[in-house]
Amino acid sequence: MQTDLENGFLVEISDAEMRSIQDAILKRYDVDFHNYEPKSFKRRLLRIYRKFNFTSSFDLWSRTLKDKDFIHEFINEVSVGLTALFRDPEFWQTLQELIKKEIIYQKEIHIWHAGCSSGEEIYTAGIIWEELKITHKVKSLATDISSNALNAAKSGAIVKAKAPEYQRNFLQFNPKGNFDQYFTEDAKNLYVKKEYFSYVNFVNSNLIMDELAYMDTDKYDIVFCRNVLIYFNSQAKTIVIDKIFKALKPGGFLIVGFLDSLVSYLDEDRFEYYNMNQRIFRKKI
Ligand SMILES: C[S@@+](CC[C@H](N)C(=O)[O-])C[C@H]1O[C@@H](n2cnc3c(N)ncnc32)[C@H](O)[C@@H]1O
Repeated sequence: MQTDLENGFLVEISDAEMRSIQDAILKRYDVDFHNYEPKSFKRRLLRIYRKFNFTSSFDLWSRTLKDKDFIHEFINEVSVGLTALFRDPEFWQTLQELIKKEIIYQKEIHIWHAGCSSGEEIYTAGIIWEELKITHKVKSLATDISSNALNAAKSGAIVKAKAPEYQRNFLQFNPKGNFDQYFTEDAKNLYVKKEYFSYVNFVNSNLIMDELAYMDTDKYDIVFCRNVLIYFNSQAKTIVIDKIFKALKPGGFLIVGFLDSLVSYLDEDRFEYYNMNQRIFRKKI
């Protein structure tokens, strides 16, 4: 067992140790983390050790065995949800143009945010639907493995400290826009007005393991899966891309993040590039 310690905490985890933890979690809770990208999974394990004062993997194993509810905390810690309002403003401009050109005329528009984190992506989309005056036509599903992230997303709250960065992003997206009109506020937070995300169905779900039984095939016009696949190994990426392929309408759009290297998973029979620079793919008709 690894003994490399700094201030009493592990600073490194071996592959064998990581796998034994993944095995233990799978056996005890039936949640499979074997498909996570090893480097980032190890980093997250080390954070968990610090947070819960575990000085060895043995501490983590014992907690796993003793405490049935620990899995929820574990999942919330493993799934760090870096996100931002109007992250990559140029992407959102491209998306707005795509919607005007390809989707705006439809009676209903179905969106799936796969790995929605604490909601910033949903709120950004919500503001854009409003600016395009299509909010009444949109029905969205938002899924994430982390219940903490989903609870944050349902609240609409954004800590005020983040507001200047978000406003800058927004103004890059729409220099003539009025950021403040979309929020209420109290001393601590901004709150996205309910009407910009009240149509979203939030579901706690594991993209790799869960079958979304309620999800129709060929349904979604757009699936956002941005900055999620980056954490998965190739087997998991294949599983998730297959699910998204099924869920998308023919002609529907898959949007991934700039670091989600996917090219080899999106075979030419099923997907084509719509906008290579902005990582927008289209399900072939
Ligand atoms: C970096 S955030 C991306 C948030 C948002 N899509 C964006 O780009 O702003 C990644 C999200 O993926 C979620 N996630 C990680 N593994 C998952 C899984 N197996 N199933 C569903 N969601 C997962 C995490 O909980 C986290 O909220």
